[in-house]
Amino acid sequence: MKQDKANAVVPRHIAIIMDGNGRWAKKRFLPRVAGHVRGVKRVKEIVKHSAKIGVKYLTLFVFSKENWQRPQEEVSFLMKLLYQKLDEEFYQLHEDGVKIRFIGDRSRLNAEICQKVSQLEELTCGNQQLNLDIALDYSGSYDIVNAVNTLLKQGVELPITEEIFNQQLLTHPTPAPDLLIRTGGEYRISNFLLWQIAYTELYFSDIFWPDFKPLELDRAIKWYNTRERRFGQISEQL
Ligand code: IPE
Ligand code: IPE
Ligand code: MG
Repeated sequence: MKQDKANAVVPRHIAIIMDGNGRWAKKRFLPRVAGHVRGVKRVKEIVKHSAKIGVKYLTLFVFSKENWQRPQEEVSFLMKLLYQKLDEEFYQLHEDGVKIRFIGDRSRLNAEICQKVSQLEELTCGNQQLNLDIALDYSGSYDIVNAVNTLLKQGVELPITEEIFNQQLLTHPTPAPDLLIRTGGEYRISNFLLWQIAYTELYFSDIFWPDFKPLELDRAIKWYNTRERRFGQISEQL
């Protein structure tokens, strides 16, 4: 594991539920979408900071399957914003050595977004500094059922193993997250990674995503370093 200057262990894989954009805007008497715009700025900062401090895998929850149920105008705005940012800003992450991959159900996304997503994956596929998985039209339960369907379609031999199942998840071959962060003050998983967080350390922050600066990520990592990961064993065995 990588150590930073203060001798803290930098988690190999951090997953983030970036929540609180709407409330951030509401607090400022701004429309919800203003929070999403500000949120994108933070995404870029956090990705760059993660790459800099040596995080190897970063998984970001950008849009859930359930988010399609939001008011049509908000969904349209989010999709437009996403397309625009993929086009302008995400390309720049290539220079930081970020390998971008999209995980989720692509069948409902519009063709332009799908094309952009594929272009970015192709452009960055050789990068090694940081693996960035962007969860878009993703949900943990969808991921699990999709894996089961794939195995059934393949006529898999029974019984299956956890390893075989794991290989069919959209997150494969990214390892399980070491640290999951949720911003915005809610203490729930909201159908993000389910199977994958079996032994992940969970960090909840009351800070709304648009205010989650790199310093806050450092704070979460510091907290992570206070945890003893026993994986079912006892302290004396570690
Ligand atoms: C997270 O912020 C962004 C998305 C789900 C796309 P929210 O939009 O959920 O913000 P709150 O939770 O309403 O404040
Ligand atoms: C989770 O946030 C989804 C993303 C951050 C993309 P939500 O705001 O959709 O979660 P709930 O519905 O409040 O649980
Ligand atoms: Mg929310």
